[in-house]
Amino acid sequence: MKKTTIAAGAISAIAAALAIFSKTKKRAVETDTVRTARFRRARRVLIVGATSAIAQEAAKEFAADGDKLFLLARNAEKLQVVANDLNVRGAAQVETAVLDVNDTDRHADVLARVTDAFGGLDVALIAHGTLSDQSACEKDVALTLHEMQTNFLSVVSLLTLLANRFEAQRYGTIAVISSVAGDRGRKSNYVYGAAKAGVTAFLSGLRGRLDAAGVKVITIKPGMVDTPMTAHLEKGALFASAEAVGKGVYRVIITGQEVVYLPWFWWVIMTVIRHIPEPIFKKLSF
Ligand SMILES: NC(=O)c1ccc[n+]([C@@H]2O[C@H](COP(=O)([O-])OP(=O)(O)OC[C@H]3O[C@@H](n4cnc5c(N)ncnc54)[C@H](OP(=O)(O)O)[C@@H]3O)[C@@H](O)[C@H]2O)c1
Repeated sequence: MKKTTIAAGAISAIAAALAIFSKTKKRAVETDTVRTARFRRARRVLIVGATSAIAQEAAKEFAADGDKLFLLARNAEKLQVVANDLNVRGAAQVETAVLDVNDTDRHADVLARVTDAFGGLDVALIAHGTLSDQSACEKDVALTLHEMQTNFLSVVSLLTLLANRFEAQRYGTIAVISSVAGDRGRKSNYVYGAAKAGVTAFLSGLRGRLDAAGVKVITIKPGMVDTPMTAHLEKGALFASAEAVGKGVYRVIITGQEVVYLPWFWWVIMTVIRHIPEPIFKKLSF
Protein backbone atom coordinates (compact mmCIF):
# COMPACT_ATOMS: atom_id res chain seq x y z
CA MET A 1 0.00 0.00 0.00
CA LYS A 2 1.30 3.50 -0.81
CA LYS A 3 2.51 5.72 2.07
CA THR A 4 -0.01 8.43 1.15
CA THR A 5 -2.91 5.97 1.28
CA ILE A 6 -1.79 4.78 4.70
CA ALA A 7 -1.45 8.38 5.95
CA ALA A 8 -4.86 9.40 4.62
CA GLY A 9 -6.42 6.25 6.08
CA ALA A 10 -4.82 6.88 9.47
CA ILE A 11 -6.06 10.48 9.55
CA SER A 12 -9.61 9.41 8.66
CA ALA A 13 -9.59 6.68 11.29
CA ILE A 14 -8.32 9.03 14.04
CA ALA A 15 -10.79 11.68 12.96
CA ALA A 16 -13.77 9.31 12.95
CA ALA A 17 -12.84 7.89 16.38
CA LEU A 18 -12.50 11.38 17.85
CA ALA A 19 -15.81 12.50 16.35
CA ILE A 20 -17.63 9.52 17.86
CA PHE A 21 -15.93 10.04 21.24
CA SER A 22 -16.84 13.71 21.24
CA LYS A 23 -20.49 13.07 20.43
CA THR A 24 -20.82 10.65 23.31
CA LYS A 25 -19.33 13.07 25.85
CA LYS A 26 -21.84 14.65 28.22
CA ARG A 27 -22.60 18.29 27.57
CA ALA A 28 -23.21 18.89 31.28
CA VAL A 29 -21.46 21.88 32.85
CA GLU A 30 -21.65 24.12 29.81
CA THR A 31 -24.75 26.14 30.63
CA ASP A 32 -24.04 26.72 34.31
CA THR A 33 -20.36 27.58 34.13
CA VAL A 34 -20.87 29.83 31.18
CA ARG A 35 -23.89 31.69 32.53
CA THR A 36 -22.26 32.32 35.89
CA ALA A 37 -19.52 34.19 34.04
CA ARG A 38 -21.99 36.82 32.77
CA PHE A 39 -21.32 40.47 33.13
CA ARG A 40 -23.40 42.33 35.73
CA ARG A 41 -24.78 44.65 33.08
CA ALA A 42 -25.81 43.80 29.53
CA ARG A 43 -22.79 43.18 27.33
CA ARG A 44 -22.55 45.39 24.24
CA VAL A 45 -21.79 43.00 21.41
CA LEU A 46 -20.97 43.71 17.77
CA ILE A 47 -21.32 40.86 15.26
CA VAL A 48 -19.92 41.32 11.75
CA GLY A 49 -21.41 38.81 9.29
CA ALA A 50 -24.35 38.42 11.65
CA THR A 51 -26.42 36.41 9.16
CA SER A 52 -23.86 33.58 9.21
CA ALA A 53 -25.37 30.37 10.56
CA ILE A 54 -22.65 30.03 13.21
CA ALA A 55 -22.90 33.69 14.25
CA GLN A 56 -26.68 33.47 14.56
CA GLU A 57 -26.33 30.59 17.01
CA ALA A 58 -23.76 32.51 19.08
CA ALA A 59 -26.01 35.60 18.99
CA LYS A 60 -28.93 33.59 20.39
CA GLU A 61 -26.85 32.86 23.49
CA PHE A 62 -26.00 36.53 24.03
CA ALA A 63 -29.67 37.43 23.48
CA ALA A 64 -30.71 34.86 26.10
CA ASP A 65 -28.36 36.62 28.53
CA GLY A 66 -30.18 39.90 27.86
CA ASP A 67 -27.26 41.51 26.04
CA LYS A 68 -27.26 44.36 23.51
CA LEU A 69 -26.41 43.35 19.96
CA PHE A 70 -25.31 45.38 16.96
CA LEU A 71 -25.59 43.26 13.81
CA LEU A 72 -23.74 43.99 10.57
CA ALA A 73 -24.42 42.03 7.38
CA ARG A 74 -24.87 42.75 3.70
CA ASN A 75 -28.40 41.41 3.20
CA ALA A 76 -30.96 43.77 4.78
CA GLU A 77 -33.84 41.29 4.66
CA LYS A 78 -31.93 38.43 6.30
CA LEU A 79 -30.55 40.88 8.84
CA GLN A 80 -34.05 41.95 9.87
CA VAL A 81 -35.16 38.35 10.33
CA VAL A 82 -32.16 37.66 12.58
CA ALA A 83 -32.76 40.87 14.56
CA ASN A 84 -36.45 40.03 15.12
CA ASP A 85 -35.53 36.57 16.36
CA LEU A 86 -32.94 37.94 18.82
CA ASN A 87 -35.43 40.48 20.17
CA VAL A 88 -37.88 37.67 20.88
CA ARG A 89 -35.12 35.70 22.60
CA GLY A 90 -34.52 38.41 25.17
CA ALA A 91 -31.87 40.77 23.81
CA ALA A 92 -31.88 44.09 25.67
CA GLN A 93 -31.44 45.99 22.40
CA VAL A 94 -30.80 44.99 18.80
CA GLU A 95 -29.44 47.45 16.26
CA THR A 96 -28.59 46.68 12.63
CA ALA A 97 -26.69 48.19 9.73
CA VAL A 98 -26.06 46.91 6.24
CA LEU A 99 -22.39 46.45 5.40
CA ASP A 100 -20.61 44.67 2.59
CA VAL A 101 -17.32 44.00 4.37
CA ASN A 102 -15.43 44.60 1.14
CA ASP A 103 -16.54 48.22 1.31
CA THR A 104 -13.57 48.96 3.56
CA ASP A 105 -13.93 52.74 3.09
CA ARG A 106 -17.08 52.54 5.22
CA HIS A 107 -15.58 50.53 8.09
CA ALA A 108 -14.54 53.50 10.26
CA ASP A 109 -17.93 55.22 9.94
CA VAL A 110 -19.90 52.06 10.62
CA LEU A 111 -17.84 51.20 13.71
CA ALA A 112 -18.28 54.76 15.01
CA ARG A 113 -22.03 54.30 14.59
CA VAL A 114 -21.89 51.05 16.56
CA THR A 115 -20.04 52.54 19.52
CA ASP A 116 -22.27 55.64 19.47
CA ALA A 117 -25.40 53.48 19.63
CA PHE A 118 -24.24 51.63 22.75
CA GLY A 119 -21.89 54.21 24.27
CA GLY A 120 -19.02 51.73 23.85
CA LEU A 121 -18.43 48.08 23.04
CA ASP A 122 -17.51 45.03 25.15
CA VAL A 123 -17.31 42.30 22.53
CA ALA A 124 -16.68 42.26 18.77
CA LEU A 125 -17.18 39.01 16.88
CA ILE A 126 -16.10 38.85 13.22
CA ALA A 127 -17.85 35.94 11.52
CA HIS A 128 -18.24 36.63 7.80
CA GLY A 129 -16.55 34.49 5.18
CA THR A 130 -16.86 32.69 1.85
CA LEU A 131 -15.64 29.20 1.03
CA SER A 132 -13.56 29.90 -2.07
CA ASP A 133 -14.05 27.80 -5.21
CA GLN A 134 -10.47 26.54 -5.40
CA SER A 135 -10.46 25.38 -9.03
CA ALA A 136 -12.19 28.57 -10.23
CA CYS A 137 -9.62 30.65 -8.32
CA GLU A 138 -6.74 28.77 -9.98
CA LYS A 139 -7.94 30.10 -13.34
CA ASP A 140 -8.84 33.61 -12.28
CA VAL A 141 -6.53 36.08 -10.53
CA ALA A 142 -9.33 38.59 -9.92
CA LEU A 143 -11.46 35.96 -8.20
CA THR A 144 -8.54 34.82 -6.05
CA LEU A 145 -7.83 38.39 -4.96
CA HIS A 146 -11.52 38.95 -4.27
CA GLU A 147 -11.53 35.90 -1.99
CA MET A 148 -8.45 37.22 -0.21
CA GLN A 149 -10.22 40.56 0.17
CA THR A 150 -13.34 39.01 1.71
CA ASN A 151 -11.67 36.43 3.94
CA PHE A 152 -8.48 38.27 4.93
CA LEU A 153 -8.14 41.95 4.03
CA SER A 154 -11.62 43.00 5.15
CA VAL A 155 -10.86 41.33 8.50
CA VAL A 156 -7.53 43.15 8.73
CA SER A 157 -9.28 46.47 8.13
CA LEU A 158 -11.93 45.81 10.79
CA LEU A 159 -9.36 44.49 13.27
CA THR A 160 -7.09 47.49 12.85
CA LEU A 161 -9.93 49.88 13.68
CA LEU A 162 -11.35 47.74 16.48
CA ALA A 163 -7.91 47.19 18.02
CA ASN A 164 -7.30 50.92 18.32
CA ARG A 165 -10.68 51.49 19.96
CA PHE A 166 -10.31 48.57 22.38
CA GLU A 167 -6.73 49.47 23.20
CA ALA A 168 -7.79 53.04 24.08
CA GLN A 169 -10.68 51.89 26.27
CA ARG A 170 -8.44 49.20 27.90
CA TYR A 171 -11.03 46.44 28.11
CA GLY A 172 -13.07 44.12 25.93
CA THR A 173 -12.87 41.05 23.74
CA ILE A 174 -12.22 40.75 20.02
CA ALA A 175 -13.07 37.31 18.59
CA VAL A 176 -12.69 36.15 14.99
CA ILE A 177 -13.81 32.95 13.31
CA SER A 178 -10.78 31.70 11.43
CA SER A 179 -10.58 28.02 10.40
CA VAL A 180 -8.62 24.80 10.70
CA ALA A 181 -8.01 25.37 6.98
CA GLY A 182 -5.51 28.07 7.99
CA ASP A 183 -3.30 25.59 9.85
CA ARG A 184 -1.85 24.07 6.67
CA GLY A 185 -2.44 24.80 2.99
CA ARG A 186 -4.08 21.85 1.23
CA LYS A 187 -4.08 21.57 -2.54
CA SER A 188 -7.87 21.30 -2.63
CA ASN A 189 -8.48 24.47 -0.59
CA TYR A 190 -5.39 26.66 -0.37
CA VAL A 191 -6.88 30.00 -1.40
CA TYR A 192 -9.36 29.95 1.49
CA GLY A 193 -6.71 28.30 3.70
CA ALA A 194 -4.15 31.02 2.97
CA ALA A 195 -6.66 33.76 3.79
CA LYS A 196 -7.52 32.08 7.09
CA ALA A 197 -3.81 31.51 7.85
CA GLY A 198 -3.35 35.26 7.39
CA VAL A 199 -6.21 35.94 9.80
CA THR A 200 -4.77 33.52 12.37
CA ALA A 201 -1.28 35.08 12.17
CA PHE A 202 -2.67 38.61 12.35
CA LEU A 203 -4.67 37.71 15.46
CA SER A 204 -1.63 36.11 17.06
CA GLY A 205 0.32 39.35 16.79
CA LEU A 206 -2.64 41.47 17.80
CA ARG A 207 -3.14 39.33 20.92
CA GLY A 208 0.41 40.12 21.98
CA ARG A 209 -0.03 43.82 21.32
CA LEU A 210 -3.36 44.19 23.14
CA ASP A 211 -2.43 42.05 26.14
CA ALA A 212 -0.88 45.01 27.92
CA ALA A 213 -4.16 46.92 27.50
CA GLY A 214 -6.16 44.07 29.06
CA VAL A 215 -7.98 43.32 25.79
CA LYS A 216 -8.65 39.68 24.88
CA VAL A 217 -8.06 38.57 21.30
CA ILE A 218 -9.62 35.21 20.47
CA THR A 219 -8.96 32.96 17.48
CA ILE A 220 -11.68 30.41 16.84
CA LYS A 221 -10.90 27.57 14.46
CA PRO A 222 -13.92 25.48 13.55
CA GLY A 223 -13.56 22.26 11.60
CA MET A 224 -16.30 21.32 9.18
CA VAL A 225 -19.68 22.79 10.07
CA ASP A 226 -23.05 22.13 8.48
CA THR A 227 -24.03 25.64 7.31
CA PRO A 228 -25.04 27.27 4.00
CA MET A 229 -21.30 27.65 3.30
CA THR A 230 -20.87 23.87 3.11
CA ALA A 231 -24.34 23.05 1.72
CA HIS A 232 -22.80 21.63 -1.47
CA LEU A 233 -20.48 19.22 0.39
CA GLU A 234 -21.29 15.65 1.33
CA LYS A 235 -21.70 15.44 5.11
CA GLY A 236 -19.70 12.91 7.14
CA ALA A 237 -19.04 12.07 10.80
CA LEU A 238 -16.71 15.04 11.18
CA PHE A 239 -19.38 17.65 10.48
CA ALA A 240 -20.63 19.58 13.50
CA SER A 241 -23.89 21.49 13.64
CA ALA A 242 -24.00 25.28 13.46
CA GLU A 243 -25.78 25.21 16.82
CA ALA A 244 -22.98 23.30 18.58
CA VAL A 245 -20.27 25.49 17.08
CA GLY A 246 -22.20 28.72 17.66
CA LYS A 247 -22.66 27.81 21.32
CA GLY A 248 -18.96 27.03 21.43
CA VAL A 249 -18.15 30.47 20.03
CA TYR A 250 -20.24 32.10 22.77
CA ARG A 251 -18.61 29.93 25.45
CA VAL A 252 -15.10 30.76 24.25
CA ILE A 253 -15.86 34.48 24.32
CA ILE A 254 -17.33 34.32 27.81
CA THR A 255 -14.55 32.20 29.24
CA GLY A 256 -11.83 34.15 27.45
CA GLN A 257 -9.86 31.27 25.94
CA GLU A 258 -7.41 32.53 23.33
CA VAL A 259 -7.01 29.95 20.55
CA VAL A 260 -9.71 27.33 20.31
CA TYR A 261 -10.62 24.50 17.94
CA LEU A 262 -14.34 23.74 17.59
CA PRO A 263 -15.22 20.99 18.21
CA TRP A 264 -12.15 20.41 20.40
CA PHE A 265 -11.04 17.21 18.60
CA TRP A 266 -9.89 19.26 15.61
CA TRP A 267 -6.88 20.17 17.74
CA VAL A 268 -5.83 16.52 17.61
CA ILE A 269 -6.55 16.17 13.90
CA MET A 270 -4.68 19.34 13.00
CA THR A 271 -1.72 18.42 15.20
CA VAL A 272 -1.39 15.22 13.17
CA ILE A 273 -1.90 17.04 9.88
CA ARG A 274 0.64 19.74 10.72
CA HIS A 275 3.28 17.07 11.39
CA ILE A 276 2.90 15.07 8.20
CA PRO A 277 6.20 15.42 6.28
CA GLU A 278 5.88 17.64 3.22
CA PRO A 279 6.85 14.91 0.69
CA ILE A 280 3.86 12.85 1.89
CA PHE A 281 1.53 15.80 2.52
CA LYS A 282 1.90 17.13 -1.04
CA LYS A 283 0.61 13.82 -2.39
CA LEU A 284 -2.50 13.69 -0.21
CA SER A 285 -5.66 14.49 -2.13
CA PHE A 286 -7.86 15.87 0.67
N1 LIG B 1 -18.98 26.12 7.72
C1 LIG B 1 -17.77 25.65 7.94
O1 LIG B 1 -17.47 24.45 7.72
C2 LIG B 1 -16.69 26.55 8.50
C3 LIG B 1 -15.49 25.96 8.94
C4 LIG B 1 -14.48 26.78 9.45
C5 LIG B 1 -14.67 28.14 9.51
N2 LIG B 1 -15.85 28.69 9.05
C6 LIG B 1 -15.97 30.14 9.12
O2 LIG B 1 -17.08 30.45 9.94
C7 LIG B 1 -17.58 31.74 9.57
C8 LIG B 1 -19.09 31.66 9.44
O3 LIG B 1 -19.41 30.83 8.33
P1 LIG B 1 -20.71 29.90 8.29
O4 LIG B 1 -20.23 28.51 8.22
O5 LIG B 1 -21.66 30.32 9.36
O6 LIG B 1 -21.28 30.20 6.85
P2 LIG B 1 -22.53 31.05 6.31
O7 LIG B 1 -23.75 30.72 7.08
O8 LIG B 1 -22.51 30.83 4.84
O9 LIG B 1 -22.11 32.53 6.68
C9 LIG B 1 -21.18 33.29 5.97
C10 LIG B 1 -21.60 34.72 6.16
O10 LIG B 1 -20.63 35.59 5.60
C11 LIG B 1 -21.35 36.66 5.00
N3 LIG B 1 -20.59 37.34 3.96
C12 LIG B 1 -19.91 36.79 2.93
N4 LIG B 1 -19.38 37.77 2.18
C13 LIG B 1 -19.70 38.94 2.76
C14 LIG B 1 -19.46 40.30 2.46
N5 LIG B 1 -18.75 40.66 1.38
N6 LIG B 1 -19.96 41.25 3.29
C15 LIG B 1 -20.69 40.92 4.37
N7 LIG B 1 -20.98 39.64 4.71
C16 LIG B 1 -20.49 38.67 3.91
C17 LIG B 1 -22.55 35.97 4.39
O11 LIG B 1 -23.54 36.94 4.10
P3 LIG B 1 -24.68 36.69 2.97
O12 LIG B 1 -25.71 35.85 3.66
O13 LIG B 1 -25.12 38.05 2.66
O14 LIG B 1 -24.01 35.96 1.84
C18 LIG B 1 -22.94 35.03 5.50
O15 LIG B 1 -23.77 35.65 6.45
C19 LIG B 1 -16.83 32.14 8.31
O16 LIG B 1 -15.75 32.99 8.66
C20 LIG B 1 -16.27 30.82 7.82
O17 LIG B 1 -15.12 31.01 7.02
C21 LIG B 1 -16.85 27.93 8.57
